[in-house]
Amino acid sequence: MARFTLPRDVYHGKGALEALKTLEGKRAIICTGGGSMRRGGFLQKVEDYLKEAGMEVELFEGIESDPSVETVMKGAEAMSKFQPDWIVAIGGGSPIDAAKAMWIKYEYPETTFEDMCKVFGLPKLRTKAHFCAISSTSGTATEVTAFSIITDYNKGIKYPIADFEITPDVAIVDPELTHTMPHKLVAHTGMDAMTHAIEAYVSTANCDYTDALAIHAIEMIQESLVKSYNDDEASRDEMHNAQCLAGMAFSNALLGIVHSMAHKTGAVFADYGAHIIHGAANAMYLPKVIAFNAKDPEAKKRYGVIADYMHLGGSNDDEKVQLLIKYLRKMNDDLNIPHCIKNYGSDGLPAENGFVPEEVFLERLHDIAANAILDACTGSNPRQPSQEEMEKLLKCCYYDTEVDF
Ligand SMILES: NC(=O)c1ccc[n+]([C@@H]2O[C@H](COP(=O)([O-])OP(=O)(O)OC[C@H]3O[C@@H](n4cnc5c(N)ncnc54)[C@H](O)[C@@H]3O)[C@@H](O)[C@H]2O)c1
Ligand SMILES: [Fe+2]
Repeated sequence: MARFTLPRDVYHGKGALEALKTLEGKRAIICTGGGSMRRGGFLQKVEDYLKEAGMEVELFEGIESDPSVETVMKGAEAMSKFQPDWIVAIGGGSPIDAAKAMWIKYEYPETTFEDMCKVFGLPKLRTKAHFCAISSTSGTATEVTAFSIITDYNKGIKYPIADFEITPDVAIVDPELTHTMPHKLVAHTGMDAMTHAIEAYVSTANCDYTDALAIHAIEMIQESLVKSYNDDEASRDEMHNAQCLAGMAFSNALLGIVHSMAHKTGAVFADYGAHIIHGAANAMYLPKVIAFNAKDPEAKKRYGVIADYMHLGGSNDDEKVQLLIKYLRKMNDDLNIPHCIKNYGSDGLPAENGFVPEEVFLERLHDIAANAILDACTGSNPRQPSQEEMEKLLKCCYYDTEVDF
């Protein structure tokens, strides 16, 4: 038996934010990030709508990008003082993910972070609060997913929390919130969404329900992402739906080793002054992983189907895989995303010399590979890499060399 779970309600389209007026409850805590939602006037609107719904409202602001375990614990403490029956998270993937983890700790104060990370092992939530997620970036789709990514900075590792218990009750997908996104954020989050859709389609947990969503999302992202990056408003709006469909697909079909590698390289070089931003990491690793996975016959066939839906041509599956890789690399060029870690600048843009020194990468390679294999996303990848293969694959992602194994 397979399970397919989504939020009870998805409000979408311009002005969908107003749906907040219909929530029923006594107290709502709003969780948000560093200020983009306040500056855009959206935070005020959320507060007003919730008050109009008759709720007492409290704010928990300042959730950082790639949120830490410490932030999660602080937020849970604020919740336990205020006792909300609604948690309303607004912003990019970071504040929404953090609020999901806070929710677990609020409902079960004795839970440790290690407990939360047991895949599909959470106790029943909703004994104290329901959860509404409002996304302001077009990529993570955390407003509809069963995932939350929290970083343990002591270990330099991002951990996915995965359980349908944290699939939000209500998702609000209002494209107006995304109009203020700077170009780089559009590029990175958009390629995150493309990676979600492609990994979900070739995942070993794919099914008819997720396939339909993944393929349609891929077609929409192909049509809209670069145009959205170049400030076409209709395409920006389309991307907000596309990433949400991709999220519905991967929340149920799971992901693969592009994400395993992104999770394990994202924060591990933070002591050299920067993160490898999640979406950019995915964009760089995706073509390499496609070449690696295509050695699996079923995965190769599925990449061929993707190439067909994208009208890339090719007369057999080998050619189609190559054309898909070529197309995705061209998208990276159009979006000003580097092709490899060696050329990944501390600002996320292509650079002659990236911020991760070669000797540091090689020194940490063994552990990164071992951790990537253990990541929750590895199990559903169509081809299971050995330690040696994962190290080779990561090297290809560092140097931008061809994957021929
Ligand atoms: N839960 C999931 O299913 C899932 C899936 C993929 C990634 N993730 C995680 O999500 C996080 C990344 O989330 P993200 O890419 O949405 O970015 P983010 O939430 O980290 O935000 C990045 C920056 O963009 C700003 N920002 C957000 N919305 C904006 C807007 N509309 N206008 C202007 N600025 C805006 C934020 O203030 C922040 O400074 C990572 O930690 C990643 O690992 C989660
Ligand atoms: Fe992602």
